[in-house]
Amino acid sequence: MRSTGTDANGTATRSPWRPSSDASTGWSTTPQDDGDDSRLWRGWSPVGATTPPIRIARGAGYHVWDADGQRYVDGVASALNAICGYGHPRLVAAMTAQAERLHHFELMSGVHAPATRLADRLSRLFGGELTRTVFVNSGSEAIEAAVRIAVDHWASRGSGRRRVVTLAAGYHGSTALCQSLSGLPHMRNEYADPLPVTRIPLPGPPSALDEPGAAQALLAAFEEAVTGHPDGPPAAVLVEPVLNVGGGSPLPAGFLTGLRELCDRTGTLFIADEVFTGFGRTGRMFGFQHDGAVPDIVATSKGLAGGYVPIGAVTTTAAVVEAFRAEPVLGGLRYGHTTSGHAVACATALAVLDVLEDERLVQRAAEMGARLVDGFRAFGGDPAVRHARGRGLVAALELHGPAEAEAMVRAAARHGALLRAQGAAVMAMPPLTIDAAGVDALLDAIRHGLAETAPASVGVERTPA
Ligand SMILES: Cc1ncc(COP(=O)(O)O)c(C=O)c1O
Repeated sequence: MRSTGTDANGTATRSPWRPSSDASTGWSTTPQDDGDDSRLWRGWSPVGATTPPIRIARGAGYHVWDADGQRYVDGVASALNAICGYGHPRLVAAMTAQAERLHHFELMSGVHAPATRLADRLSRLFGGELTRTVFVNSGSEAIEAAVRIAVDHWASRGSGRRRVVTLAAGYHGSTALCQSLSGLPHMRNEYADPLPVTRIPLPGPPSALDEPGAAQALLAAFEEAVTGHPDGPPAAVLVEPVLNVGGGSPLPAGFLTGLRELCDRTGTLFIADEVFTGFGRTGRMFGFQHDGAVPDIVATSKGLAGGYVPIGAVTTTAAVVEAFRAEPVLGGLRYGHTTSGHAVACATALAVLDVLEDERLVQRAAEMGARLVDGFRAFGGDPAVRHARGRGLVAALELHGPAEAEAMVRAAARHGALLRAQGAAVMAMPPLTIDAAGVDALLDAIRHGLAETAPASVGVERTPA
């Protein structure tokens, strides 16, 4: 039984999994399945995995502790969503207060203040014409809703525009529709594609996006896909401003502006997938703001409630919503879930937006992001590194292959940092609350990892650190 451990400072830490019971309820608080996770089926994880999963027991600030008391800098912000870190007192208070007042009432037959206030707040945050928000529970649902809104908007106007143009290296979620939007090899499923999709390949390896002319090359491919297709122009184009699962690559400067111009010229709806980049991650409130191009539909999720509770949102213009008056079946959007716009989630999201503002976390992401990305670029000379890139608090090192990336993630964990492997890339995307010491701890863990991971496949000689 795990009962004690030491944190990274050598301080003895009592494991939260020690045997105990709650005096008020008499229930045992000792997990019955300590050491046995055979009943938990984890998605996106091999059933026969030989490496046991890390047992996360608690979190505080930008640190998490495992059940043995080992402390880690959370370089992945849980799933890139814990933007305000763990145990933030204002978020916990907002959740509790809303749960006591009204935990939820569904939004098909009523409205509640947390949802109306959050929709209003998002409208002011986006500014301009992005004034209407529908809530969902996850990033996948937000993308599914965004795409359906685009297609149904055209159908309501009597048009047959149904095609969606995406980047093949894009990731937009794991429902059947969302998987069909991606061309990433492990995302494609065997179900029939619900909608026609044109998936544009990147002009080369991730480093090609840094080359002069990369934006033009990508735009030429989108131009062809939008204007040169035998079925006519698509319903929408859909892109992430920074590729997440595609390997942490920022799209080249000028690309989104060019895409906006192409959409305006062809009447195509521009959907931005801000599920991962939204709410400060890239050092701006939204990823599209780096290029000054404003989309017609924006999908957000991850950071919106800081990962404390699930929520997603799709924000669009009044003009898009108005088209649904003519929707033939309902005269509205035929999409929604029992817990869409959950009151606790909306109240938490409002508190997250307050925290972002009061703690100036977007600016912090820009400052700490510059330190992180500069640190990653400094590794660029290492023979194990093929390319270093990033924007804001998204940093990626392209290694020689997925095995090297996995080995680096394991090595970094031994040195107290959680990172993520995406293909051959190792990515760091910590909470926006991270400070210089936290960034340096991530960089140190990578330095150790580079020294320790055997680069046999590339024949590199090393001296141990
Ligand atoms: C860019 C992007 N879109 C969509 C999604 C899907 O979000 P979720 O996992 O909440 O369904 C993700 C999740 O990683 C993402 O990064």
